Amino acid sequence: MEPVDLLVVGAGQLVTMAGASERPKRGADLREIGAVADGALAARDGVIVDVGPAHEVLARVTTSPKTRVLDARGAAVIPGFVDSHTHLVFGGSREDEFALRVAGATYQEIMAAGGGIMNSVKATRAASQGEMVEQALRELDGMLLTGTTTVEAKSGYGLDLATELKQLRAIQELQARHPMDVVPTFLGAHEVAPEYRGRADEYVDLLIREMLPAVQAQGLARYCDVFCEKGVFTPEQTRRIFAAARDLGFALKLHADELSDLSGAQIAVEYGATSADHLLCISDESIWALAGSSTMATLLPGTAFYLKMPYARARAMVEAGCAVALASDFNPGSCPTYNMGLVITLACLGMALTPEEALAAATINGAHALGIADRVGSLEVGKQADLVILNASSHRHIPYRGGTGVVRTVVKRGVVVVEDGRLVR
Ligand code: NIG
Ligand code: FE
Repeated sequence: MEPVDLLVVGAGQLVTMAGASERPKRGADLREIGAVADGALAARDGVIVDVGPAHEVLARVTTSPKTRVLDARGAAVIPGFVDSHTHLVFGGSREDEFALRVAGATYQEIMAAGGGIMNSVKATRAASQGEMVEQALRELDGMLLTGTTTVEAKSGYGLDLATELKQLRAIQELQARHPMDVVPTFLGAHEVAPEYRGRADEYVDLLIREMLPAVQAQGLARYCDVFCEKGVFTPEQTRRIFAAARDLGFALKLHADELSDLSGAQIAVEYGATSADHLLCISDESIWALAGSSTMATLLPGTAFYLKMPYARARAMVEAGCAVALASDFNPGSCPTYNMGLVITLACLGMALTPEEALAAATINGAHALGIADRVGSLEVGKQADLVILNASSHRHIPYRGGTGVVRTVVKRGVVVVEDGRLVR
């Protein structure tokens, strides 16, 4: 048998998340993390070829002097985090708005005064593709260092065709230049463009007539997302955009019920969206609609934390049978951290998810929220060797440590990209 390129041994606890590549985890299954004691994993050409109890794996695989052997020395090994909702690419930063919110202003007040998303739109229009790529490459490095191995990245700070395409091309360039898997989403409906203030329907016309077809023709995005919110896009406008995007072959995501309840989650379900995201203000009725659908409830507790809002009702969603994913929402305004360890801590402390539920939501269910659970999100034969060796003996150190100190080694497609907490160049 051909020797393997990578062999991970000495995993005191090997968290596989096995058995949920076809369908996301729900209910009690969310707590089943598929942990193997004294585990090992082997990969060839970036793909897992064997995984399980060490004595079995070692009896099956062949090594050569070229095989890279990683000894976890009794530590826990987990799948890399799949961060299925980020606004990775933008110009500028908004620390002054953070200070305003600390002093009592709300996100909506800042937005109404012309700040918020519009602030980033100005900076993003002014930035070159190269500048945005350089900024985002640093963020991607930081994400790898905190254990994230796959991210989604949205446009949405251009709001005109040229700048939206610039952002999406930046995302495409990142995919080529960085080991991270980056899944692109078109979010031209993030806010009504300043040129169309008070004429939102005309901006929606432009989105449907010009922007969506151009993005589709250039193959720059897999998903189309909309910010359905009071004062942004109405349910009716959301439906129009979704219908057009679906006809063009985009898969769908929705910023739903974040700051107010517009029954956005039900629109997501109605159009077969892959995920409905945020859900801070979701109604019971919408929870039941999600529970009976294949739409992922993607929760972003970092945003509630930064906006000082009540957390999403994750327990009610899990008990109702919703499939739940956790993501960062990394963006320059409502959540400037991408640290998935911290997100998991907030999910446990703020939303009462168990450490096991939170970890499943941040790995295999995140992969489902991106439609790529056949490739990432769990440690199973045939999937990418994307994994994290912790500095600790149990996955429970992740929520316990609030995003600090737990990531020792990160492997992306079988290649060591972080070693002893440092990037490998
Ligand atoms: O997911 N809700 C809309 N979009 C982002 C915030 C973007 C921003 O503030 O720049 C969010 O919270
Ligand atoms: Fe967002």
